[in-house]
Amino acid sequence: MLDSNSLRKKYLDFFAKRGHTVIPSASLIPENDPTVLFTTAGMQPLVPYLLGQKHPGGKRLTDVQKCVRTGDIDEVGDDTHCTFFEMLGNWSLGDYFKRESIAWSYEFLTKELGISPDKLAVTVFAGDEDCPRDEESAARWKEMGIPEDRIFYLPKENNWWIAGTTGPCGEDTEIFYIDESKPGESPADDGGKYVEIWNNVFMHYYKHPDGSYTELQQKNIDTGMGLERTLMTLNGYRSVYDTDVLRPVAELLRKKISCDSAEAERAVRIIADHTRTATFILGDPRGVAPSNVDRGYILRRLIRRAVRFARQLGLDASVLSECAAEYIAIYGDFYTELKENSEKILEELRLETEKFDKTLHQGLKEFEKLLGYIKDNRISGKAAFRLYDTYGFPPEMTVELSREHGVTVDMEGFTRAFNEHQQKSKAGAEQKFKGGLSDSGAETTRLHTATHLLMEALRRVLKDPTIMQKGSNITPERLRLDFNFPRPLTAEEIAAVEEKVNEAIAADVVVTCEEMTPDEAHAQGAVGVFGDRYGDVVKVYTMGGYSKEICGGPHAAHTGELGRFKIVKEQSSSAGIRRIKAVLEA
Ligand code: ALA
Repeated sequence: MLDSNSLRKKYLDFFAKRGHTVIPSASLIPENDPTVLFTTAGMQPLVPYLLGQKHPGGKRLTDVQKCVRTGDIDEVGDDTHCTFFEMLGNWSLGDYFKRESIAWSYEFLTKELGISPDKLAVTVFAGDEDCPRDEESAARWKEMGIPEDRIFYLPKENNWWIAGTTGPCGEDTEIFYIDESKPGESPADDGGKYVEIWNNVFMHYYKHPDGSYTELQQKNIDTGMGLERTLMTLNGYRSVYDTDVLRPVAELLRKKISCDSAEAERAVRIIADHTRTATFILGDPRGVAPSNVDRGYILRRLIRRAVRFARQLGLDASVLSECAAEYIAIYGDFYTELKENSEKILEELRLETEKFDKTLHQGLKEFEKLLGYIKDNRISGKAAFRLYDTYGFPPEMTVELSREHGVTVDMEGFTRAFNEHQQKSKAGAEQKFKGGLSDSGAETTRLHTATHLLMEALRRVLKDPTIMQKGSNITPERLRLDFNFPRPLTAEEIAAVEEKVNEAIAADVVVTCEEMTPDEAHAQGAVGVFGDRYGDVVKVYTMGGYSKEICGGPHAAHTGELGRFKIVKEQSSSAGIRRIKAVLEA
């Protein structure tokens, strides 16, 4: 049997021997990127380095990264989906490329892990108008001994990797373990025959907000291997809940219940999964507590959903703390932050579970009552809002409960009820939001528009999409912008930023404003802070291809109004934060 500790060690040792610096897992909460809630892949904290910044560890890195992905939360309970997982990864930052990456992956799987080469199949990119067919990877796999009929050419949908919608990306080659007992024609099918264990991404493009691709200044390798799935596959387990990181908790739960139906097993898995994610979010060095906004809200949803399933199994909500204590023991030697923060983890879990446990019972009764008198099999928005406001039911939970009873929820009505309720505090928040603008005279408005152009120019010239606004202050005379960046800008960079902004001004594009949900804004590649309450609507200001940012306004009608943009000062503001002062000349 291969356990998690041996797999992590084998992986890191293998790549360390091949010149890679072992770096620690970054925080689950991205440090300089307010546009994503959690770290979802090993590459995320490395974006600036994939784009050309020098990493102190050199050009070859390897790590085990904690990741949270909640997009597949409805699948949790099956054999393989989890909201938390560990990703084993190795990176080349403009150093080795396809040949070494493929050879080492093959060697690691067949020699270190002892997987028979007959059990491996791979996919490579089939090619399209953006990027040619990946004949090189196919040739490398053949050199390794993978026969033609186990090399599958697939389109962008399968063999292209990007985090989100813009940024570094490229074609990839994915490695699958073949499970002969299950059906499937190719790795594109989900019959279960092909289990993906490793993804090697050839990151040498940048995707821009307008959908175009340009070549990066360096060719990178970004790989990711799911720890739990690999353990499951290698050990021939039926599900990830049989691996040494999850089994003790699943067992702890199973022992407490008398029934062994598929439904009970699903509930056990959901509790085990959600509690693990909550333990890691609470225990992170940059951890958050449950709340009604952003990350705190995701955490709250996970905990409350786990409490609901515990209740369904007839278990006390305090079982979540028992699970968390077990996770701290399982993971504490590798992720020492869990041990260091164990008191906080257990205390926050206790507070949140106790709070919800008090209202859950009443709320469920209220829900049952509702089922008795609803019309058209639909729960009204007002009723869903009452469950939220009075009993603390996240709307997603009401939707899920309703689905189980074959009814739907009027979510638009919920959002309306929510917004009505929030109007007062929202008005207050908007006042605060405008705070950076001391007045909205014509001068400050123009400088505000220039601030947006400056933000995007910085991101593009410095090739760092993690650059975000960290502060802004505008007077009728000048703008002042604080942003995250680790070093002073060179004179050339300052000139290039000025030139980019002046190019946008000379293009005289119209400034447009649209209202949309934070999700839509995110999908369009807008930068900025994505609202913080359920049901938020944000304004997105677009300046041709030069800027797309979430903002409260106001702005100039078109960029030609701005005059000539000039940076008058670039200095340090605080650790890791730079400050630029700039003016518009007539
Ligand atoms: N970044 C790649 C992934 O997450 C390796 O699959």
